[in-house]
Amino acid sequence: MTTNWPARYASRITGMVPSDIRELAKAMRQPDVISFGGGIPEPTLFPHDVVADSFQRILTDAKTARIALQYSESGGYMPLREWLAGYMGSMGAPCGPENILVTSGSQQGLDFVGRLLLSPGDTVLVETPTYIGALRAFDACEAKYGALPSPENPNPPAAKFGYLMPDFQNPQGTSLSLAEREDLLDRAEALDLPLLEDSAYEKLRFEGTPIPPLIALAIKRAGGIEKSRVLYTGTFSKTIVPSLRVGWLVAPSEVIAKLILIKQAADLHTSTLNQMVMMDLAQRMLNEQHLNHIRATYKRRRDVTLAALATHMPPGVSWTKPEGGLYIWVTLPPGVDGTAFATKALAENRVAVVSGKSCFAVNTVPNTIRLSFSLIPEDKAEEGVKRLAELLRRI
Ligand SMILES: Cc1ncc(COP(=O)(O)O)c(C=O)c1O
Repeated sequence: MTTNWPARYASRITGMVPSDIRELAKAMRQPDVISFGGGIPEPTLFPHDVVADSFQRILTDAKTARIALQYSESGGYMPLREWLAGYMGSMGAPCGPENILVTSGSQQGLDFVGRLLLSPGDTVLVETPTYIGALRAFDACEAKYGALPSPENPNPPAAKFGYLMPDFQNPQGTSLSLAEREDLLDRAEALDLPLLEDSAYEKLRFEGTPIPPLIALAIKRAGGIEKSRVLYTGTFSKTIVPSLRVGWLVAPSEVIAKLILIKQAADLHTSTLNQMVMMDLAQRMLNEQHLNHIRATYKRRRDVTLAALATHMPPGVSWTKPEGGLYIWVTLPPGVDGTAFATKALAENRVAVVSGKSCFAVNTVPNTIRLSFSLIPEDKAEEGVKRLAELLRRI
């Protein structure tokens, strides 16, 4: 008798669906496609020679190699936790290594916070739209969703926590101003709502003045990290390289202690070797010179994409003008369905974009698409936008 697998799946699986973006990734690799699709980093910006040198240094010294190749603490490689605590302090969020959990990318941090706080049916308040990967992580905990509190939405449903990206959020590219951050913290306090701050794009600011992270503002209000209502996920994926899968979570030590139990159950610890390499890379590369090099490349790509939108898009189309990050969010005329548009754009015009619809958990705005400019060759951006504009005129 053959096994009826679906009958055996746990209830949490029913809400788990493949991401449009991963599906799109296959199509995007075709050489004739101009891609504004997946928001992955530009690979020519990876410091591969420094990465090679770090691995070499660590593995050719018997003493460091033995540590790097061994199992290690679930909380993370202690020198890296200490370094990250100092790094958070430099961003106005003083904390100690006991407040840091090293994770396998910040995606694992989102998954773990979901597992820690969400029982089936619990609600998470999110931005509209929000990061699809976070929705997928919370879906696995059988979450429900509502919109974060704001002046327009003062009475959100009761929720376990709120999730947001204050800087250059995925998918809109927009950021919260200092006043909006303070307002959100006021509302979170009034509702006794913990917040999860995802800082994935924080360092990719091309212009304007950096705004303190929510966690820094929360620590200041509370008088210390131990009373902070904001948890924070960080990552080296967009500033150094994604493949080593090193990210971190910042939280009060009692929360980290519980998250360490989840980490042990999930994968014992993040690769010791990768943590040691990443610490060496962070010390050598996470400086203004390297960051400015990355920012300059993405800024040029943003600029050509924005210029092309201004030149070619018909009336009735609007878009965000992000000061950083990797995304522009385009609102098409009312009645145009983002998913149908994205499907047609790929099939007929050979341009890849992401439908905005999959980025909403609540209050879906169907006439939206996301353009990622991270991989767009500067000489192709205009042609890509022109084709999208032509398709819009046609339909
Ligand atoms: C907003 C946001 N958070 C988290 C992640 C996950 O990144 P990583 O797990 O590589 O740190 C991504 C990846 O694109 C992202 O866009």
